[in-house]
Formats: sequence, structure tokens, C-alpha cells
Amino acid sequence: MGLKSKDLISIKDLDRNELRLILDTAESFKEVGARDIKKVPTLRGKTVVNLFFEPSTRTRTSFELAAKRLSADLINIAVNSSSVVKGETLVDTARNLEAMQADLIVVRHPCAGAPALLAGKMASAVINAGDGAHEHPTQALLDLFTIRERKKTLEGLTVVIVGDILHSRVARSAIHALKMVGSSVRVVGPPTMIPREIARWDVEVFYQYDEALKGADVVMILRLQLERQGRSLFPTIREYADLYGLTARRLAMAKDDVLVMHPGPINRGVEIAPEVADGISSVILSQTTNGVAVRMAVLYLLSMGARADEQITRSSDAPTPRARTGEA
Ligand code: CP
Repeated sequence: MGLKSKDLISIKDLDRNELRLILDTAESFKEVGARDIKKVPTLRGKTVVNLFFEPSTRTRTSFELAAKRLSADLINIAVNSSSVVKGETLVDTARNLEAMQADLIVVRHPCAGAPALLAGKMASAVINAGDGAHEHPTQALLDLFTIRERKKTLEGLTVVIVGDILHSRVARSAIHALKMVGSSVRVVGPPTMIPREIARWDVEVFYQYDEALKGADVVMILRLQLERQGRSLFPTIREYADLYGLTARRLAMAKDDVLVMHPGPINRGVEIAPEVADGISSVILSQTTNGVAVRMAVLYLLSMGARADEQITRSSDAPTPRARTGEA
């Protein structure tokens, strides 16, 4: 069984079985990272392109490691020294990469919808590595993988997501994924950072951090997305830290075996105190480790579909968007 869609743009592209398939596949790939020789031949001959229009440490590096551990060829496009600076469009850039037989294109872009636009115009598989404040599906998948690894289940857990929900693609993808697997989700943050459409998301909304933390199994902390905030949504960073910074005192309101998560990069002393970020409840670096295995699984499962569809003629002039039909 592969994935029905040729692309991974949103968690909504997946059904519950596909989500579990990705987590199970990642579990089997994780041990590759613990070997002396961290390589398997699974994607030999495939070409993966990283096309990042925004900064990234974890996502770009882990896609690169994932591709290399699967023996694929990996090209990182440095957007600032590419022909994008001469005015080439996103679509033309991607079509030219596809013309060089790129099988999978991993895209991060500041505009919500940019990866979906490419996916509709190309035969290559497109993976959304974060688009504006829309979605970051592989982050949600690695978050679920990390929770399942530690808690042995995803059902019936209470997960609290804290902070700048309004601008967070991580929160949007995580909420879709957590609801799909039967977790309860609470969000907490300043009213200015809670989106109006929250009423449609089937989550509990809190404004008092301590209240939200009572009985929590997992606390998922978000970074203040200052680069996406067009206007000040909070008087000062210090006040934000006082009200919405996770301290050891606050964390004591949650369950004893609570997991503290953060997608990174973290702002120490703002949304999380250093002793919590580095404390025994923190699984932040495990999230980073697991990101490689999860991205190996995504590359592998999307490539399976690409092989099944090899008969489709590739043409950058007349690309053929395709949907998969449940290939094995
Ligand atoms: N979590 C995450 O997306 O981190 P990067 O921005 O470093 O990729």
C-alpha cells in the first residue's frame, strides 16, 4: 500500500490509515540512523530537490539526510543564488527542475498555497515543507511519531498547543493530525493570537495557561512568529514570557509524565524557560531525530507511487497532474 495522493501538501491529504502507515514506515526506518553505515539502497536512482524560499535548519537538513540515507540523489537549491533573483517564477523554476528529472520536490515558501500550486502543475511529487501560516505536514507527522514512541498510543491523550496559533502552520497541521488519531486538543494563548476560525477546529480554547495545563499529557509550545506578525499582537516580549512562557512551576500543573515539545527554533526565556527546554520532560531533540525517519518514510511512500506511474510521460511543457489510486 502506498499513498493515494502523489503529493503531501496538507495533513488533510491523508486518511487515518495512511497516517498510521507513514508512522509505521518511519519506525522501521529509524534504526537506519543508528547504524555505523547509515544508508539503505531503497531510493537509489531517484532525485530529490530541496527548494526552500525561507530559512530552515531542521526541515531542510532532515530532508537532505533522509534522501541520502535512502541513497537518493539530493540537490539543495540556494534560492538567493538561483535564477529566482532574475525574476524567474516559482512555477518556471520548479518546471525546470522537473525537466532535469527531479522525482520529488520539497518546497518551503512564505506564501500559503505555493506547494499546492506546484503540485497541480507538475508530475513530480511535491512535498510541503511549510507554506506561510498554512501547513507543515511533515512536522505534524514527526510530532505524532514522537508522542506515539513515548506514550505508546495517540488515542485519548490531552495535547495543549501554546502560543501564536494565528500564524502557526505547525499548529494547523498538528491539530488536523491529532484530531484524526483521537487525541483531544486544547489551545492557549493571547486572544490576539487565536484565529477567529478556531470555532470550526473542534478544540478547546483557553486564555489562562495554568488552566489549560491541568491534566495535560503533552505540551506543544510554539515560537512567536514575529516575522509573520504585521502589527504588534502583545505589548512586550517580557509580558508574553510572563503569561505564556513555560516554566517549571507552570509545568507542574500538567501530568507527572507530561511531554514538552517544540518544533524549533526555540526562543529560550520567551516561550520556554531554559530549564524546561533542557529538562527531563523535554523531547525537543527527539523530535529532531525523528524528523529524519519520518521524512524517509514520506519520501519512500511517495516514490512508490512515482514508480507505479512510470508510464506517464514526463514533459515540462505539458505536465500531467496525477492522483494515485491506492497502488500497493
Ligand atoms: N521545525 C522547523 O520547521 O524548523 P526549521 O525552520 O529549522 O526547519
